[in-house]
Order: sequence, then structure tokens, then C-alpha cells
Amino acid sequence: MPSDSSALPAPKVPRHVAIIMDGNGRWAKARHLPRVMGHRAGVAAVRKIVRAAQEIGIEYLTLYGFSSENWKRPVTEVNDLMGLLRMYIKDDLEELHKQGVEVRVIGAKSRLEGDIISLIEHAQERTRGNPNLKFIVAFNYGGQDEIVEAARRIAEDAASGKIKSEDVTREVFASYLATAGIPDPDLVIRTSGERRLSNFLIWQTAYSEFVFTDTLWPDFTKAHLAAAVQEFQGRDRRFGGLSVAAGGRS
Ligand code: IPE
Ligand code: IPE
Ligand code: MG
Repeated sequence: MPSDSSALPAPKVPRHVAIIMDGNGRWAKARHLPRVMGHRAGVAAVRKIVRAAQEIGIEYLTLYGFSSENWKRPVTEVNDLMGLLRMYIKDDLEELHKQGVEVRVIGAKSRLEGDIISLIEHAQERTRGNPNLKFIVAFNYGGQDEIVEAARRIAEDAASGKIKSEDVTREVFASYLATAGIPDPDLVIRTSGERRLSNFLIWQTAYSEFVFTDTLWPDFTKAHLAAAVQEFQGRDRRFGGLSVAAGGRS
């Protein structure tokens, strides 16, 4: 007998969406503007997507803002990106707090200016325990460095007798990562047509779904986010098992 479609459960909104915000430079170039203008337009897109994520019902949103490899860019561009993070925290922190957003920044503190570290710490303290969207900013972040750092800390804890090598499970290892306590991303979106991870959450994305869009980050809107969520909802996540249709369990 055909099943009653009204009895089907509503499609699940991904709990954690992580976005590689790419294409700011090309957006500016297309307008004959300096690259920094693309990054400024990128910050405006961040504001909109943080709101949109809440409206769609996403619980965790991670945005990749600066990679451990982005130091290879000209010093002027690096300074522009640092300046934009400073400005974003100063201008938007109270609004984020009002929205009930909890901010967490992952990435290395090394090479960051002292005032940026203070701003990051202040943003995290100010919004700690807020009940709505968990907003994770990956800044000066690199997945390989994150894993090496976890391994180093586990080795230290083993040497001091805090942990035994046989107790190092996947779960224990994950608890040493910067993302400890954050569920793995269900959906990873990359804008601008590039199809690579660029050292983003390489441990955590083992079973994530990927959506790639040609849209450049400054042009990315709530409608694009909703479309990516819809594409995710059509995916068959098997985690190595069998799909429901093939007789597996959901
Ligand atoms: C993304 O835009 C922002 C950062 C990487 C900081 P890009 O600056 O990489 O823009 P494209 O890739 O050059 O267009
Ligand atoms: C990845 O974008 C980093 C961020 C979005 C912050 P890049 O533009 O730096 O990546 P590649 O160099 O094209 O791989
Ligand atoms: Mg890029």
C-alpha cells in the first residue's frame, strides 16, 4: 500500500553547518575594486548568514575566516583581514549577544596581535552560555595543526601519567581538538566554485555532506543557504552502513 506522505517526518535541518567562505577577492576583481572591498562585503554576508542560520533552525554555524595558510598573502591583505576581525567583534558583539548567540573562536593564538586575542577572549566570555545559535569562527585555523596540537597534548598527558596510551580512543582524541564538545558538521558548504577543504576541519568532516556552489561569498544569501540545506535533505547518509531503502536502519 502506498504510504501516506503526510505521515512522513519533516526533513531534518542539519544541526551543524560549516562554511568555507571563498571568493571575496574575485567578487572585488569583477567590480574593479581592491580585494579589501571584497572582504568588507564578505563581512556583510557574515552578518546576514548568522541571522539566516537562526531563522532556518541551524544550531551550530562554523565560518572559516582565516586559514593557517592565509599568512602567505601579502602583508597588506593579512592586515586588512586582521582589521576586519577586530572591527567585526567591536561592532557586532553586543548585537550577537542580544540575539542570544554564543561565540567561540577556534584556531591558533600564535602570530595574532595581543589586542585581537583580548577581543576574542572578551567575545567568548561575554556570550558564554547564550541559548541560541552556537557561532564558531575558525580564525588562524588549520586542521593539520589542530591534530598535531592534540597529539602533542595527549603525549604530554601520557608522559605525566594523566592518561594511558590504551585509553586514547577516537572520542578521547576528539576531546583534545579545538572543537571539543561541538558535534561534527553535518553539512559543509564552499562558495566560489573551488572544490577542496583547504585544511578546514579535516578530522571533523569524515562523514559530512558537501555542497559546492559557484556563488561568491559576498553574494551568498539566506536563499543560497536554504537551497544548500534542501540539497542536504535529499542526501542519503549511510555512515558506512546501509540506507533505509536498502533495508538498513536509519
Ligand atoms: C575568502 O576569499 C576570504 C579568505 C580566504 C580570507 P578569498 O580572499 O580567498 O577570495 P578569492 O579566492 O581570492 O576570490
Ligand atoms: C580557504 O580559502 C580559507 C578561508 C576561506 C578562510 P582560500 O582561498 O585561502 O583557499 P585556497 O588557497 O584557494 O585553497
Ligand atoms: Mg580564496
